[in-house]
Amino acid sequence: MKLFDVYPLFDITLVKAEGTNVWDNKGQKYLDLYGGHGVISVGHSHPKYVKAIQEQIEKIGFYSNSVQNPLQKQLAEKLGKVSGCGDYNLFLCNSGAEANENALKVASFKTGKGKVIAFNKAFHGRTSAAVAATQNPKIQAEINKGHEVTFLPLNDEKALESELKKGDVAAVIIEGIQGVGGLDEGTTEFFKAVEKLSKQHRAFLILDEIQSGYGRSGKFFAFQHHGIKPDIITTAKGMGNGFPIGGVLIHEDIEANYGMLGTTFGGNHLGMAAAISVLEIIEEEKLIDNAAQKEVEFKELFSQIKEIKQIKGRGLMLGVELEFPVAELRKKILFDHKILTGNAANPNLLRILPSLSITKEKLEFFVEAVKKSIAEIGK
Ligand SMILES: Cc1ncc(COP(=O)(O)O)c(C=O)c1O
Repeated sequence: MKLFDVYPLFDITLVKAEGTNVWDNKGQKYLDLYGGHGVISVGHSHPKYVKAIQEQIEKIGFYSNSVQNPLQKQLAEKLGKVSGCGDYNLFLCNSGAEANENALKVASFKTGKGKVIAFNKAFHGRTSAAVAATQNPKIQAEINKGHEVTFLPLNDEKALESELKKGDVAAVIIEGIQGVGGLDEGTTEFFKAVEKLSKQHRAFLILDEIQSGYGRSGKFFAFQHHGIKPDIITTAKGMGNGFPIGGVLIHEDIEANYGMLGTTFGGNHLGMAAAISVLEIIEEEKLIDNAAQKEVEFKELFSQIKEIKQIKGRGLMLGVELEFPVAELRKKILFDHKILTGNAANPNLLRILPSLSITKEKLEFFVEAVKKSIAEIGK
């Protein structure tokens, strides 16, 4: 059997990883500034994380949600404490798209309505309601188009109000900071308006923190930069540091009932051990403070490069916008300087999503590589 060929891949085979570095099968070391789409939060193969998973698999790796699993309660408790969102209840699943799908479902169950408001350039995943709320027709099949979704410009309060006034909206879904779309974000004024208007028109506010959450923005969740309180928060990527886990944080005012949501794998013992250790490491190593500090250092280092138009994003969720498409530059940085970075819908943007434990030295190494590469390609 062959693989269903859906990914354009770099010809690199990774076999080992540690902290912010990965190695290929020829022994070549790379600096990882991308964390495999922003997944690596506490660092590759962190010893505490490895130990937690090893010890757990020796006891019990999996049982379904038909028996008590105290590790789930332990994770929920810890997540409430570390995130400052103790007044939410946690539903556990396996990926980002699944988290958003469930969040949208809760909003629809509870409001009895079906329409969703999302924003231009949004990315919320590839399951049916999530992909319908993703502004990219190329990844929507006919079967996904039955959903009612209105896309609005970010920061357009008037457009939001006139859409919500129609009274048929179940949910407004918005990324804390847009990831795939290219690091745009709502202003504090806009987030506050979204919160107020959603409440006023009985629509649930869903904050997609799948990429921007878990400390990446320099606060636990990116919406915390704006002093708002969503009805539902979705999380995934950094939550398991590579172990596939998703979570839906549902405000405690929203009541659960048996059978409303469900999953076979979500909340399994192995995943819980991974996720608990991630939160412990984030706390012990003060990784959220490090993300906030590295943003300042990164912006300072990159202010030296005149070809850079702007640095977008916050914490360690950053986009380096140049005056020209970055495809060639990104390849040069990868193959000549052995640094992994990401791209975005905006072709001029280099996306940076390293482990939250990255040091200034590694950022200095990166800035030198960018400088040299720009000079070499003659821009
Ligand atoms: C903001 C956001 N939401 C949802 C998703 C979907 O997550 P997953 O790929 O785990 O389904 C992503 C993935 O990139 C994302 O960035």
